[in-house]
Amino acid sequence: MYTADIISIDQGGDTILNPIDLLQTDNRGIDVFHCFRVAELAFKLCSQLEISNEEKEEIVLSAAMHDIGKSKIDISILNKPGKLNNKEWNEIKLHPKYGAAIALMMGYSVNISQNILYHHENSDGTGYSKGLRDENIPLGAAIIRICDSYDAMRNKTI
Ligand SMILES: [Fe+2]
Ligand SMILES: [Fe+2]
Repeated sequence: MYTADIISIDQGGDTILNPIDLLQTDNRGIDVFHCFRVAELAFKLCSQLEISNEEKEEIVLSAAMHDIGKSKIDISILNKPGKLNNKEWNEIKLHPKYGAAIALMMGYSVNISQNILYHHENSDGTGYSKGLRDENIPLGAAIIRICDSYDAMRNKTI
């Protein structure tokens, strides 16, 4: 099941997430200005597409929350000035799964949760969390990926 799939996140053999733990987030690791900019970019991009208002609303909301999973990542890793080692990088790469689970726990739709889960996928399959390709990547996740990358190139983000 989708819900079980993203909540049963395994780290070194231990299942580390439960609903109460998920909702006890803090925002130290989230760059809210980056999230707002990505949401604004997603809104503008969606406005150029022939999609329903409902889908547009879901995509913009997903964009606003896309990095919410970083609230579960060790702040010292997010703020590390130098290069990340493999273990640290693997922890960073969990943030879409954390975010997707948090969105579900907060009562948002599966579509929103999936847009968050897949916002670091690449069309050539080199992304994470699942290595999805091309049209298997939800439209909202692809839009967030583009807006996220554009904002990261123009602004310093964590
Ligand atoms: Fe992200
Ligand atoms: Fe981001």
